[in-house]
Amino acid sequence: MTASVQPQSILQPPARAAMFLVLTVRDGAESEAVDLLADLPGLIRSVRFRRPEDNLTCVAGIGAKAWDRMYDVPRPASLHVLEEIVGDKHTAVSTPGDLLFHLRAERMDLCFELARQLMIRLADTADVVDEVHGFRYFDDRDLLGFVDGTENPEGNAAAAAVFVHDEDPSYTGSSYVIVQKYLHDLTSWNAISVREQELVIGRTKLDDIELPDADKPSNSHVELNTIVDDDGVEHDIIRDNMAFGEVGSDEFGTYFIGYAADPGVIEQMLRNMFVGKPPGNHDRILDFSTAVTGNLFFVPTADFLEDGPPETAADDDPAPTTSTTEQDTGSLQIGSLRGTDQ
Ligand code: HEM
Repeated sequence: MTASVQPQSILQPPARAAMFLVLTVRDGAESEAVDLLADLPGLIRSVRFRRPEDNLTCVAGIGAKAWDRMYDVPRPASLHVLEEIVGDKHTAVSTPGDLLFHLRAERMDLCFELARQLMIRLADTADVVDEVHGFRYFDDRDLLGFVDGTENPEGNAAAAAVFVHDEDPSYTGSSYVIVQKYLHDLTSWNAISVREQELVIGRTKLDDIELPDADKPSNSHVELNTIVDDDGVEHDIIRDNMAFGEVGSDEFGTYFIGYAADPGVIEQMLRNMFVGKPPGNHDRILDFSTAVTGNLFFVPTADFLEDGPPETAADDDPAPTTSTTEQDTGSLQIGSLRGTDQ
């Protein structure tokens, strides 16, 4: 007999709408926060069932400090507070955050309704320190006008990139997520030519084709975010950035969200962007974009949320395997994680 591990709904096709809620948990309210996370799958089902075709999902993440307060088991191997990264010109800030809720759907009303239900439950437990309502802009473009998300891995490669496997067996099927809220200086951005913008990103603007190596500057966004190790293996992450903004206050932003089995891959990308590779050769996207938040969260499995830490939940059957669900099947093949039959 095998136990099955149900990941949260990380691998999703691009949704039209998203909400990003970062909260801090009040002192003394830790057990209420744990209870809410246990009820999260049920709350999602309640709202989702009203419009199943609009594919409402919600991924919950837990910050390092909150983990220590909420659970009696050791932190997952790579969970820590995001370190601030200070470059010559630009800084990746690290800001408070105990819980992340990443809500996605084809319609904002579903995200909003689930967020409302979450906050009814969390009213005396947690405080929202950042809330962003994101929308998918034309052709999946960000507000810089470039198609965003093209090089995300798919299928087995996506599952391999985001889910913890043997490296931390107690947490198979879990993941890590880093979020950063960026504000763009669109006036400066739009003052440079389209060709110049293409050299900043490393892809063409209209057609979204990667520039040939000979034309791609070493400080382009794409070049600095391609992580290849000493063995020539490329390390991928899954991104699902969303545009947000307020025209009245000249606010134009990108909410960056990146999932990975090893958050060190995203942190390496951040060092390349902010410190530069080599140092000083920073990502030119930062000359037009300022990171105003930054957090790292652990994303446990759905089973963990409902049942608690695996040591207590799976005493009678400790060898986990993953299973597929309706939400996570399709081209994304989470089922490829299956395979530790006893
Ligand atoms: C690629 C936009 C922040 C990691 C891209 C692309 C765009 C883009 C337009 C090219 C198309 C694609 O493959 O998606 C942005 C914007 C950001 C931002 C507007 C915020 C201002 C970040 C951050 C990271 C990151 C903070 C990681 C820490 C990546 C990666 C790629 C990529 C891994 C694919 C590189 C490749 O293999 O070609 N981004 N990005 N991005 N970005 Fe970002």
